[in-house]
Amino acid sequence: MASAAAGEVAIIGSGLIGQSWAMLFASGGFKVKLYDIGQQQVTNALEKIRKEMKFLEQSGSLKGSLGAEEQLSLISGCLNIQEAVEGAMHIQECVPENLELKKKIFAQLDQIVDDKVVLSSSTSCLLPSKVFAGLAHVKQCIVAHPVNPPYYVPLVELVPHPKTAPATVDRTYALMQKIGQSPVRVMKEIDGFVLNRLQYAVISEAWRLVEEGIVSPSDLDLVMSDGLGMRYAFIGPLETMHLNAEGMLSYCDRYSEGMQHVLKTFGPIPDFSRATVEKVNQAMCVKVPNDPEHLAARRQWRDECLLRLAKLKRQMQPQ
Ligand code: NAI
Repeated sequence: MASAAAGEVAIIGSGLIGQSWAMLFASGGFKVKLYDIGQQQVTNALEKIRKEMKFLEQSGSLKGSLGAEEQLSLISGCLNIQEAVEGAMHIQECVPENLELKKKIFAQLDQIVDDKVVLSSSTSCLLPSKVFAGLAHVKQCIVAHPVNPPYYVPLVELVPHPKTAPATVDRTYALMQKIGQSPVRVMKEIDGFVLNRLQYAVISEAWRLVEEGIVSPSDLDLVMSDGLGMRYAFIGPLETMHLNAEGMLSYCDRYSEGMQHVLKTFGPIPDFSRATVEKVNQAMCVKVPNDPEHLAARRQWRDECLLRLAKLKRQMQPQ
């Protein structure tokens, strides 16, 4: 069981991502204070966390060595930001993706924190140099960008401000590992960080292929889910190259010319024209009608798949 000495964490914003962080930190035995601006938000968040943890426990997928009740007893709601961060060694901000709001929150935290706590933002696309601009405690600031749903998808991109201390990155890296996440160090800030740059490259080519009538939207998705994606859950594109020939050098000798030939045929950034948006939307709605019930059911199915995949990945760890 965590003690104040083992570590306390404050979560600022108790929405979708704040709830996931709270569960992850509790699974690592950390005491968590979940702060939000209204009682209703905090009450809802605590209820959702309870329901989710019970479900995870019943399905044998609860993370960490503590039971659901023990983990739940580590999480408390809070409506006072000063109280929330008191004693915390890590503060994870999870308010909506709005630069002015995030800057306001960090300016507030800057006034009340000591020189030791790590100030971390969950932002998906705001650059650290913008979010943490002008803060006295900038050395302690970092972006820790999770992937939705963070409880099932462990990657966390760590992105420093140019003035972030290396010790802040190291501490956050170790903390992420401790709660079972997979941190990666993004050495320098860049728009989209790494994950979204890769994702947008894929979306971009997918869009061009559909727009040009090369492949249907549903077949395009199948190329990923029954093709590329099968191996990408276990090995990345670079290791794929390494394994698909006698090592990387041999792959590049054999295929770099062919790759360059294909890459030269890639088109411009899509403009996401209305006509193609409607075509893709129609195809998606055949598979998953876009009403709240169907979307929620499909998300639940996706999360169950991810949960089982996570189990498989644990079982398949190379010795
Ligand atoms: P959300 O809208 O579900 O939750 C935001 C929470 O912040 C709400 O509970 C709201 O009441 C609270 N809030 C608003 N103003 C506040 C304030 N001044 N002080 C404290 N709390 C306040 O948003 P979500 O999806 O949880 O996103 C949070 C952050 O995580 C965003 O920066 C987002 O870009 C990032 N993120 C989101 C992902 C996603 O797929 N939803 C994935 C990865 C990162």
